[in-house]
Order: sequence, then structure tokens, then C-alpha cells
Amino acid sequence: MDPHVLIFPLPLQSPIKSMLKLAELLCLAGDIAVTFLNTDQLHRRLLSCTNIHSHFSKYPQFRFETISDGLAEDNPRTADRFMELIDGMEAVTKPLFREMMVNGGCLSSSSEKPVTCIITDGPMSFVFAVTEEVGIPLIYFDTISPSALWTYFCFPKLIDACEIPITGHDLDAPVKNVPGMEGFLRRRDLPSFCRAEHLKDSDIQFYLNAILFFPRSQGLVLNTFEELDGSVISGLRSFCPNLYPIGPIHAHLKNKLASQVTPPPTASSSLWKEDWNCIEWLDVQSPKSVIYVSIGSQAVMTKDQLLEFWHGLVNSGHRFLWVIRSNSIAGENSWEGRIPNELLEATKMRGCLVTWAPQEEVLAHPSVGGFLTHNGWNSTLESVVEGVPMLCWPCFLDQQVTSRFVSEVWKLGIDMKDTCDRAVIETMIRNLMGVRRDEFVESAKQMAKLARESVSEGGSSSTNLNSLIEYIRLVRL
Ligand code: UDX
Repeated sequence: MDPHVLIFPLPLQSPIKSMLKLAELLCLAGDIAVTFLNTDQLHRRLLSCTNIHSHFSKYPQFRFETISDGLAEDNPRTADRFMELIDGMEAVTKPLFREMMVNGGCLSSSSEKPVTCIITDGPMSFVFAVTEEVGIPLIYFDTISPSALWTYFCFPKLIDACEIPITGHDLDAPVKNVPGMEGFLRRRDLPSFCRAEHLKDSDIQFYLNAILFFPRSQGLVLNTFEELDGSVISGLRSFCPNLYPIGPIHAHLKNKLASQVTPPPTASSSLWKEDWNCIEWLDVQSPKSVIYVSIGSQAVMTKDQLLEFWHGLVNSGHRFLWVIRSNSIAGENSWEGRIPNELLEATKMRGCLVTWAPQEEVLAHPSVGGFLTHNGWNSTLESVVEGVPMLCWPCFLDQQVTSRFVSEVWKLGIDMKDTCDRAVIETMIRNLMGVRRDEFVESAKQMAKLARESVSEGGSSSTNLNSLIEYIRLVRL
């Protein structure tokens, strides 16, 4: 049978984007068929916001399939209701997925093109159960920060040593039971759900389950590169020997496409309409003069936090491009009317507001000199590749660990962490964009160079991708 990979991402912006990049990399191998299984609801949004269908039409061996996520059409599918998504998928998606995979289903062994390998996300544990039943190799693709993933593997030790749950008074206590991070990791840097006010047994069990199957799968793909996450990669390899660090995956794909005879434009995989006017605005700004601000696709801020950021940005005196995503202000639909006039006037002078930006192009733009980010993993890698220093305001999940690595290990920026105060924001922006700029520019340039080398021919990520492709070809026999 010809190799046929089913790629099944967690239906959220970041995993979908990374896995579509992986899907295209596998299509470029030439002899691998790829089916991308998206949820009905998100697939409709993807088609309404991008030209993804026409982009992938040039790969005859690629197709989209869709499946229900079990949620009501109007469910916002935001991070704060994440467990509803997981429950919906367990109740509705799992039986539908099983039907596809067994007894003559469209992806089963008796179909025209049987699936020979599945690549999916950790939190969808039902996929493991179905693939084990049908006896197909399963490879996980971890789309969050590998350093945060490593802390998940250390949870049993952290719990035994009473290092989690974390209470307010010991946030600055050093963490002793995450090998390789003893020198710099504090409890406040652990994933936010480890804090007592968030932690429920179900949470810990959920995240332990999310990695429970990794060592029992046939491989683990990581969106990182050896030169960035070397120590963490060796730790993870002790649990999952078949490890494939092939990132930064967006840069990897861009590099592969650039070597095509007629390089096609990379396709957007945004679930919101991108506002390209911001590129025209950037075109008339001075080099490195703009700080780009975005908290990704899931994080939200309160209206009070929005005002603190707004005052901090305006008072910093720097020019700013700010993504204020619809549904990103907690509990507020009509916050626009309640912004002080002096902020609006100053924004007209020095700022540009959009609801969704072409982020990779923004970070690559010569006018952008800094990135105020929540440190979602895709955003972090996109900033690393473009050599843009970061001001980190992590919100949840893996972002706290990542922001600590940015400031303490990679020296690529400043970690604002749990602060949201206009004076601190103003000072940190001035530090990142001016006063302390030279501290980060050199290390950011260096890391960007290592990132690009890793995805070039003979680089570590390029070699690991070839190994993954060889494995996929092998299992078809
Ligand atoms: C989620 C989790 O929040 C994050 O912690 C985890 O690491 C990955 O899954 P998200 O919050 O969406 O991710 O952040 P991120 O990983 O940065 O992904 C956001 C993606 O949206 C990026 O690829 C970014 O390029 C894109 N984006 C963001 C846009 O295209 N336009 C925007 O305006 C903002």
C-alpha cells in the first residue's frame, strides 16, 4: 500500500496551523498521500478566511475530511471552555472517527486508500484508543512548547515533592524536580494550571493523560530545533526514543517551498480574516521603530488589563501595531465606547489597531523592532526566526515556562510575567525597544541564524524530517 498519512489536529488555531504546515511538507515528499481531518465548524471558518482549498489543490495526493466536534454551532470554542471541547469530542467525535477507521469506513483498511499512519495531538486520547484497535502506527505532534511538555513528564515527581499545587506565597520558590531547569525555574514559571486556585485533580489527570500515550506511540514530532531546545529534547528522548524535532515548522516549509521551481505563495491558515492594511502602515514606519502586540488566538484580557496595556503603550512613546482579536476582552462586547479620548487620539498618531494580522509577515517586516507577546509556541518560534526581541506577558498553559526560557536561557527578551501595570509596561517597552535593546539584538540574530540553518539541507530539523518521512514510507509495507 502507498503511504497515506491521516493528520488529525486539536481543533484550535495554533495546532491547525502547525499541522497544515506538516501536511504540506509531507506532500512535498512526493509519494505520500495526506488526509487532513478538521472539524466541520473550524473547516468552514478556515474556508471563509483563507484560500486554503485552492492552495492545496496543487497536491493531487492531498484531501480534507471533516468531522463534528460535538459542540453547538454557537459555542465560542475559546480556551476558557476547552474542557467542553474535549468532552464534546469524546462523546461525538470518537464514535464518528471510529466509524471512519473501521468496517469499510472512508479511511479504513478496506477503503480505496487505507490510512497507513496517523499523526495527531496529545489531548485527544480517544485517537490512541481507535488507532490501537485498528493496529495503525500513531505518531504524536506536540504543538506546544517542548520545555513545558517536559514539565508535564515531571508532574509525578513535583506532586510527590509537594512542589505542586502552587500557592501564592511560594511563587518565587525554585523548582527542584524538573531535571535541567533547576538553576532558573521558579514555581511561578510552571504551567498556570499548577497553581492551587486553578488546580483540580481532573486537570492534573487530564494533562498526565495527554502525555500518557506518548511513550506508547510510534513517535513524537516536536515543533522546535535541537539548537534551541537541546537539553529538553534529550530529556523527552528518554521517554520517547523516536523523537522528530523538525521545527520551526513554518520556516521549514517556507525553505522547502523556496527551493521549488515555481515557489507558490505560502497559504494562510487563519481562522480570522487577516487585515493586510497594517502592512501598508508598517511600510511608512522607520526601521525597528514599531512594537507589535498580540496575545494569540485563545488568551483573553479584562477591560482593566486592556486599559493598562493601552496607557503603557501610549506612554512609552513608541509606535505600536496591536491585534485586539474579537472575543479577546473577557466579558465585554462593546468595550470600544469606553476608551478615554486621549488614548484614542494618541493611537491615531502612533498606533495601528487590527482584529487579526498576517503575523508572520508582520514579524518579518523591517519596521518591527519588538514583539509584546503571550508566548504561545507558534508566536514564540515566529519571533525567534525573524530575530525579533520579545516582551513576554504569558497567560496560561505552556506560556509561563516559555517566557522564562526567553528571558533567562535564550536571552531573547524580557519576562513581564504576572504584571499588568501601565508604568511597568511603559518601562519594559522602553527597555526592549531602546534602553536595553542591544542586550537582545545580538542573541536574537544568532538564534535566528541557527533556526534557519536547522531547516536548511543538512540541518538538524531537515535531517529529522527526512527520518520521519523514511519511517512513514517504511510502515506502509
Ligand atoms: C495555543 C496556546 O494558547 C499556546 O499557549 C500554545 O503554545 C499553542 O496553542 P495560541 O494562543 O493561539 O496557541 O498562540 P500561538 O501558538 O502563538 O498561535 C497563534 C497563531 O496565530 C500564530 O501562528 C500566529 O502567527 C497566528 N496569528 C496570531 C495571526 O496569524 N494573526 C494574529 O493577529 C495573531
